[in-house]
Amino acid sequence: MKKILVVNGPNLNLLGKREPEIYGATTLDDIEARMRKRCEKASVEMDFFQSNHEGAIVDKIQEADGKYNFIIINAAAYTHTSVAIRDALSAISVPAIEIHLSNVYKRESFRHKSMLTPVVMGEVLGLGVESYMAALEGALLKMGVEY
Ligand code: DQA
Repeated sequence: MKKILVVNGPNLNLLGKREPEIYGATTLDDIEARMRKRCEKASVEMDFFQSNHEGAIVDKIQEADGKYNFIIINAAAYTHTSVAIRDALSAISVPAIEIHLSNVYKRESFRHKSMLTPVVMGEVLGLGVESYMAALEGALLKMGVEY
Protein backbone atom coordinates (compact mmCIF):
# COMPACT_ATOMS: atom_id res chain seq x y z
CA MET A 1 0.00 0.00 0.00
CA LYS A 2 1.28 3.49 -0.87
CA LYS A 3 2.01 5.79 2.05
CA ILE A 4 1.91 9.56 2.42
CA LEU A 5 3.43 11.59 5.25
CA VAL A 6 1.93 14.99 6.07
CA VAL A 7 4.28 17.22 8.08
CA ASN A 8 3.08 20.35 9.88
CA GLY A 9 5.40 22.89 11.47
CA PRO A 10 5.13 25.33 14.37
CA ASN A 11 1.87 26.94 15.49
CA LEU A 12 -0.24 24.92 13.08
CA ASN A 13 -1.59 23.10 16.18
CA LEU A 14 -3.37 26.41 16.88
CA LEU A 15 -5.30 26.45 13.59
CA GLY A 16 -8.91 27.47 14.13
CA LYS A 17 -8.07 30.02 16.81
CA ARG A 18 -4.83 31.42 15.36
CA GLU A 19 -5.37 34.56 13.22
CA PRO A 20 -8.56 33.11 11.64
CA GLU A 21 -8.74 36.06 9.20
CA ILE A 22 -5.54 34.69 7.62
CA TYR A 23 -5.69 30.96 8.30
CA GLY A 24 -9.44 30.29 8.52
CA ALA A 25 -11.59 28.55 11.12
CA THR A 26 -10.66 24.97 10.30
CA THR A 27 -8.62 23.11 12.91
CA LEU A 28 -5.66 20.85 12.18
CA ASP A 29 -7.78 17.90 13.36
CA ASP A 30 -10.43 18.83 10.77
CA ILE A 31 -7.74 18.94 8.05
CA GLU A 32 -6.39 15.58 9.14
CA ALA A 33 -9.90 14.08 9.09
CA ARG A 34 -10.60 15.37 5.58
CA MET A 35 -7.28 14.09 4.26
CA ARG A 36 -7.71 10.73 5.98
CA LYS A 37 -11.14 10.27 4.41
CA ARG A 38 -9.70 11.01 0.96
CA CYS A 39 -6.78 8.63 1.52
CA GLU A 40 -9.08 5.85 2.69
CA LYS A 41 -11.13 6.26 -0.49
CA ALA A 42 -7.92 5.98 -2.53
CA SER A 43 -6.63 3.05 -0.40
CA VAL A 44 -3.54 5.02 0.59
CA GLU A 45 -2.09 5.08 4.10
CA MET A 46 -1.46 8.48 5.66
CA ASP A 47 0.56 9.56 8.68
CA PHE A 48 -0.12 13.06 9.95
CA PHE A 49 2.51 14.82 12.07
CA GLN A 50 2.81 18.22 13.74
CA SER A 51 5.68 19.63 15.77
CA ASN A 52 6.75 23.01 17.03
CA HIS A 53 10.37 21.80 17.08
CA GLU A 54 12.72 22.02 14.13
CA GLY A 55 14.80 18.98 15.17
CA ALA A 56 11.70 16.81 15.55
CA ILE A 57 10.67 17.74 12.01
CA VAL A 58 14.18 16.93 10.72
CA ASP A 59 14.03 13.54 12.50
CA LYS A 60 10.62 12.78 10.99
CA ILE A 61 11.81 13.63 7.47
CA GLN A 62 14.95 11.50 7.86
CA GLU A 63 12.83 8.56 9.07
CA ALA A 64 10.54 8.95 6.05
CA ASP A 65 13.17 7.71 3.61
CA GLY A 66 12.20 4.31 2.22
CA LYS A 67 9.00 4.34 4.29
CA TYR A 68 6.77 6.78 2.41
CA ASN A 69 6.00 7.39 -1.26
CA PHE A 70 5.26 11.10 -0.83
CA ILE A 71 5.59 13.94 1.67
CA ILE A 72 3.26 16.93 1.94
CA ILE A 73 4.86 19.60 4.10
CA ASN A 74 3.67 22.86 5.61
CA ALA A 75 6.82 23.84 7.49
CA ALA A 76 5.08 27.07 8.62
CA ALA A 77 7.59 29.67 9.88
CA TYR A 78 10.49 27.24 9.39
CA THR A 79 9.82 27.49 5.65
CA HIS A 80 11.55 30.85 5.68
CA THR A 81 14.48 30.00 7.96
CA SER A 82 15.34 26.33 8.11
CA VAL A 83 18.41 25.13 6.25
CA ALA A 84 18.14 21.97 8.38
CA ILE A 85 14.65 21.06 7.07
CA ARG A 86 15.73 21.87 3.52
CA ASP A 87 18.82 19.66 3.89
CA ALA A 88 16.71 16.82 5.33
CA LEU A 89 14.34 16.99 2.33
CA SER A 90 17.36 17.01 0.00
CA ALA A 91 18.96 14.07 1.79
CA ILE A 92 16.07 11.65 1.21
CA SER A 93 14.63 10.30 -2.00
CA VAL A 94 10.94 10.82 -1.16
CA PRO A 95 9.31 13.48 -3.37
CA ALA A 96 7.69 16.36 -1.48
CA ILE A 97 5.06 19.02 -2.09
CA GLU A 98 5.40 22.26 -0.09
CA ILE A 99 2.13 23.83 0.97
CA HIS A 100 0.85 26.98 2.66
CA LEU A 101 -2.65 27.92 3.71
CA SER A 102 -2.05 31.60 2.96
CA ASN A 103 -0.60 33.23 -0.14
CA VAL A 104 2.77 34.09 1.40
CA TYR A 105 3.61 36.40 -1.54
CA LYS A 106 0.75 38.73 -0.55
CA ARG A 107 2.15 39.04 2.96
CA GLU A 108 5.27 40.42 4.67
CA SER A 109 8.44 40.31 2.58
CA PHE A 110 10.16 37.90 5.00
CA ARG A 111 7.58 35.30 3.94
CA HIS A 112 8.47 35.67 0.25
CA LYS A 113 11.58 33.55 0.64
CA SER A 114 11.22 29.80 1.04
CA MET A 115 14.25 27.67 1.91
CA LEU A 116 12.30 24.62 0.73
CA THR A 117 10.99 25.46 -2.73
CA PRO A 118 14.30 24.67 -4.54
CA VAL A 119 14.33 21.11 -3.14
CA VAL A 120 10.68 20.07 -3.47
CA MET A 121 8.79 18.79 -6.49
CA GLY A 122 6.15 21.52 -6.36
CA GLU A 123 4.16 23.92 -4.26
CA VAL A 124 0.51 24.75 -3.49
CA LEU A 125 -0.40 27.91 -1.60
CA GLY A 126 -3.11 30.44 -0.86
CA LEU A 127 -6.07 28.06 -1.01
CA GLY A 128 -6.59 27.67 2.74
CA VAL A 129 -7.47 24.10 3.67
CA GLU A 130 -7.76 23.33 -0.03
CA SER A 131 -3.98 23.74 -0.29
CA TYR A 132 -3.75 20.49 1.67
CA MET A 133 -6.46 18.80 -0.40
CA ALA A 134 -5.02 19.96 -3.74
CA ALA A 135 -1.55 18.78 -2.74
CA LEU A 136 -3.05 15.45 -1.77
CA GLU A 137 -4.74 15.09 -5.17
CA GLY A 138 -1.42 15.96 -6.82
CA ALA A 139 0.41 13.37 -4.74
CA LEU A 140 -2.21 10.70 -5.56
CA LEU A 141 -1.91 11.47 -9.27
CA LYS A 142 1.90 11.45 -9.14
CA MET A 143 1.85 8.11 -7.31
CA GLY A 144 -0.39 6.70 -10.01
CA VAL A 145 -3.15 5.80 -7.58
CA GLU A 146 -6.32 4.69 -9.35
CA TYR A 147 -9.48 6.49 -8.23
C1 DQA B 1 2.14 29.31 6.60
C2 DQA B 1 2.80 30.63 6.17
C3 DQA B 1 4.02 30.93 7.02
O1 DQA B 1 4.62 32.15 6.61
C4 DQA B 1 3.62 31.08 8.48
O2 DQA B 1 4.75 31.28 9.29
C5 DQA B 1 2.80 29.93 8.97
C6 DQA B 1 1.82 29.31 8.09
C7 DQA B 1 0.82 29.05 5.86
O3 DQA B 1 0.36 27.91 5.90
O4 DQA B 1 0.25 29.96 5.26
O5 DQA B 1 2.89 29.55 10.14
O6 DQA B 1 3.02 28.24 6.30
